[in-house]
Amino acid sequence: MLVHIKQLFPNSGRDVVGKFAYPAFNTQNLETTMGIIQAAEELGVPVIIDVSEGAIKYAGLTTIFEIMATLAIKAKVPVALHMDHGKDVEQIKTGIELGFSSVMIDHSGDDVEKNIKATKELVDFARTEGAWVQGEIGRIRGSEDWINVSDAEALLTNPDDALKFVQATGVDTLACAFGTIHGIIKIRGGATPVVDLPRIKAVYDKVKIPLVLHGASGVDENIIHEAILAGVAIINIDTELRIAFTEALRKSLADQPEEVDPRYVFKPVIEAVKQTAMKKLRQFNTKNVVVSSQ
Ligand code: G3H
Ligand code: 13P
Ligand code: ZN
Repeated sequence: MLVHIKQLFPNSGRDVVGKFAYPAFNTQNLETTMGIIQAAEELGVPVIIDVSEGAIKYAGLTTIFEIMATLAIKAKVPVALHMDHGKDVEQIKTGIELGFSSVMIDHSGDDVEKNIKATKELVDFARTEGAWVQGEIGRIRGSEDWINVSDAEALLTNPDDALKFVQATGVDTLACAFGTIHGIIKIRGGATPVVDLPRIKAVYDKVKIPLVLHGASGVDENIIHEAILAGVAIINIDTELRIAFTEALRKSLADQPEEVDPRYVFKPVIEAVKQTAMKKLRQFNTKNVVVSSQ
């Protein structure tokens, strides 16, 4: 069933934070979305599905929303839909009007004051529509299609800045730079993420809202557990699903060189996405989560 993200955080998030985290899996297409939802259904747990601006550029906002929402409505488990790393405010507003219950505005590349201004304006709009907003403070390393953050520029989140940001903007969830790195680079050995666990606790103790760990593909399970205990309640995973998808696609084509029906080519691909998503869902311990009815 399609749920508002706030239903995953009953009791102002107190039932979740420190106990488990929801994976927020990025999708770009029908098959990835199918794999994610099949994984959540098989384990009987709720899930968040994200779509980035890059994925929206690829698939079209309405098209990808309809795919996500249609599959979410039919799902046997709660599914919340989120727009990830938004820079284009008009597009984010359209997404809210379409029905995303959660959106991210990412002005982390700006200075704190500009970031606060842009984020607060979006929060004011989102409030009138009942959507949740995720802001970002600090700079998460890695490359996204709208920003390249070199190691030198990287800026971990300062707990006092985080408090100021949350108080000034009223965001519902907060993405922070805790040492993880976006994208394939860390998996190919080009950079090593070092998660600053004490910083997670220091930020959570100040802001007391669910924290979001971005760039979490490839992060060791034990570190993930420590991060959850410290206050991370949403964990973004994109690259590991992309790897599962593309490796399975290569194998599927090689195994069935005569096959011309995309449905048979994609069958093992969907299964590979599902298995990877299930691995993460198990790690993040969502089994005992209580989802509220409104
Ligand atoms: O954190 C970013 C997501 O992995 C989306 O990546 O901008 O390449 O779609 P993308
Ligand atoms: P990874 O690609 O490292 O999993 O990061 C995903 C992410 O942060 C999406 O917002
Ligand atoms: Zn991210």
